[in-house]
Amino acid sequence: MATIKQALGQAKTLQQVSDSWKLDADLLLADSIEKPREYLFTWPDLKLTESQLEKFDNYCCRRLTGEPVAYILGRQAFWDFELIVNPSVLIPRPETELLVETALTLLDNSASATILDLGTGSGAIALALADANKHWAVTAVDSSEAALGVAQENARLLQLSNIEFIQTSWCDELPADHFDLIAANPPYVEAGDKHLSEGSLPFEPIAALVAEENGLADIRTIAEQSRHCLKQGSWLLIEHGFQQKEAVERILLDTGYKNIECVKDLANLDRLTKAQYVK
Ligand SMILES: C[S@@+](CC[C@H](N)C(=O)[O-])C[C@H]1O[C@@H](n2cnc3c(N)ncnc32)[C@H](O)[C@@H]1O
Repeated sequence: MATIKQALGQAKTLQQVSDSWKLDADLLLADSIEKPREYLFTWPDLKLTESQLEKFDNYCCRRLTGEPVAYILGRQAFWDFELIVNPSVLIPRPETELLVETALTLLDNSASATILDLGTGSGAIALALADANKHWAVTAVDSSEAALGVAQENARLLQLSNIEFIQTSWCDELPADHFDLIAANPPYVEAGDKHLSEGSLPFEPIAALVAEENGLADIRTIAEQSRHCLKQGSWLLIEHGFQQKEAVERILLDTGYKNIECVKDLANLDRLTKAQYVK
């Protein structure tokens, strides 16, 4: 039987599909033997059992088809959590943590707040904000029933009860003049974009990725509809493509927002825009 070190060496074939093949192999093997990743470095000469090796081989075969590690393992790290994910939700990205950080700065630990997460997917943004202050009331919306099921399961596992989940299209049926902050990571990829056939994207729900009007249709709808739901002086935060800064700024100006400002991510890319609703 192969040792941990040998199994990881054989996983070099993952190079064909992944730049991060070493990390992928570690995560897949650690899960196969039901141990933390560090265990692999501590016990490299430990022999694997037949069933552990079979599980690892099976994981590697799936990874070789391009299937993302997050879907194979059914979980993804985001913020302070490990979230359950499946192919009905977008795999939460590290970039989206910037949206959470920006929201937290704007909310400034206020004693109470009403927050809306539009297009919640796995619940990533809603969960991070609900966890930051248990007195905040978070509403998480998605049009996908399956996605909302995943988000609700994540809230249950994290024991967060200050989130209400609603299946609707963006702000349809939501109360007027109600929210202190609206956060959205909407679909913003243009149909036919070549990146849709790369990396994890072919495995992720198309409704979570693609929007009409060069990727801007959902951003426009959110900007228009959010005006109805935001309280006077409160904030809308929208994550967008790094080349969409000017277009998003134009939409927000045209829909009457003020104090519009783009925020860059750690790679110095234009990642999200915040705007204030002032009547
Ligand atoms: C880019 S994903 C974001 C998921 C999650 N917020 C995150 O950051 O990982 C966009 C989400 O918007 C949802 N969505 C797409 N169209 C929608 C609509 N008309 N109304 C509500 N949600 C929608 C998708 O189902 C998907 O979960």
